[in-house]
Amino acid sequence: MPARTKVPVYRPYLYSASAIRDTYTHYAALRELGPVVRLHKHKVYALPRYAECKQVLLDEATFVSSDGVALNPVANRAGQGTTLFSDGEDHTRRRSLLARRLAPRALRALQDMVDLRAAATVEAAVARRRVDGVEIAAALPMSVVPDLVGWPPEGREHLLRWAGAAFNALGPLNRRAMCTLPASLGMLRYARGVVRTGSVLDGSLGHDLLAASEGGRIMPAECATMMIDYLAPSLDTTISAISSALHLFATHPEQWRLLRENPDLARKAVNEVVRHASPIRAFSRVAARDTVIAGTALPKGSRVLVLYGSANRDPLEWENPDTFDIRRDAARQLGFGRGTHGCVGQGLARLETTAVLRALAARVDRIEVAGPPEWALNNVIHRFERLPLELVPA
Ligand code: HEM
Repeated sequence: MPARTKVPVYRPYLYSASAIRDTYTHYAALRELGPVVRLHKHKVYALPRYAECKQVLLDEATFVSSDGVALNPVANRAGQGTTLFSDGEDHTRRRSLLARRLAPRALRALQDMVDLRAAATVEAAVARRRVDGVEIAAALPMSVVPDLVGWPPEGREHLLRWAGAAFNALGPLNRRAMCTLPASLGMLRYARGVVRTGSVLDGSLGHDLLAASEGGRIMPAECATMMIDYLAPSLDTTISAISSALHLFATHPEQWRLLRENPDLARKAVNEVVRHASPIRAFSRVAARDTVIAGTALPKGSRVLVLYGSANRDPLEWENPDTFDIRRDAARQLGFGRGTHGCVGQGLARLETTAVLRALAARVDRIEVAGPPEWALNNVIHRFERLPLELVPA
């Protein structure tokens, strides 16, 4: 059968404030239109269903990242030299240099420290009873990864703003991205200073990078980029997962009871949270040759948008996709990506999220919504800005 060349078009703007707040309604409309949908405003092909997202993520020879994974040319140029924006041997080299810090063995060594920090965070939150769930969610990501990367204590107060700005810049070049562009470069500027002065924490990943640069294994200029490579994607993403978990458990008390009865469900719950409320909305790829997706012909150079959040709610893949159920086997969710670029930090994100959930399950009988939550308006990250909760102690 010849490949289709006529592709359905979606005209609403996916990056308006209202679409960001109501993202799942747009995903459902896109999935209804078909497996490949032209986004009128961005001149890209959106993939709203699970099968095609997985196909693209697993075929890195055809769908490359080195032309950038953002939706605008400025970020696609600025991000050159990062693991996320590289392919082939270059990508393998960058990724392997740092991956051992996030491998299961390294994470086992972090377990006790993460559990202790989670317990202390929960203890303090339960004592206050009325809390902002985003603050609870931020506590671990804002300390564990900066320590791992070796970021000096001075300057940490800017990290979240810089990281959020970096994610904004990976969307289209709209007002939101333009306004945050200077801040998105803040982290790089700061990292360059840290590398220049060698002020990284001893024994950290940053320390390894400086040694690799002195040993001639990487270029000195790469050190700063690689520190950011690990730090920038670790903050908002994990904060999103933990705060979405808190909101989902507050609004599904029967699921909270299940978790309290069997805290071992926390590991499964992380997959279900990331499936149901995927922290990253979408990244793109470029077709390196003429190709076909789901019977649709795409010429070489086409940019395709992998909508992780939509794939994770595709009814062709999931039974009752909008239902939150921590007993579901959601291990195949795509919220951490898949294939060679699949999230290298997912073990750590799982460790942090599980630790917070287990600490809460031990101390909190009920989580209640204590006011209207507010969404963070970000082009790429799907997360709460404020989440008023009441923690009812056990
Ligand atoms: C719940 C938390 C997280 C989510 C949902 C998440 C999601 C993702 C996704 C979807 C990708 C794939 C990008 C692509 O397909 O192009 C990715 C890649 C990546 N993530 Fe995560 N991430 C999380 C936490 C972390 C953490 C904690 C770190 C670091 C400690 C991290 C570091 C990275 C890096 C370096 C890449 C690029 C990998 C590569 O290109 O080979 N992430 N992440």
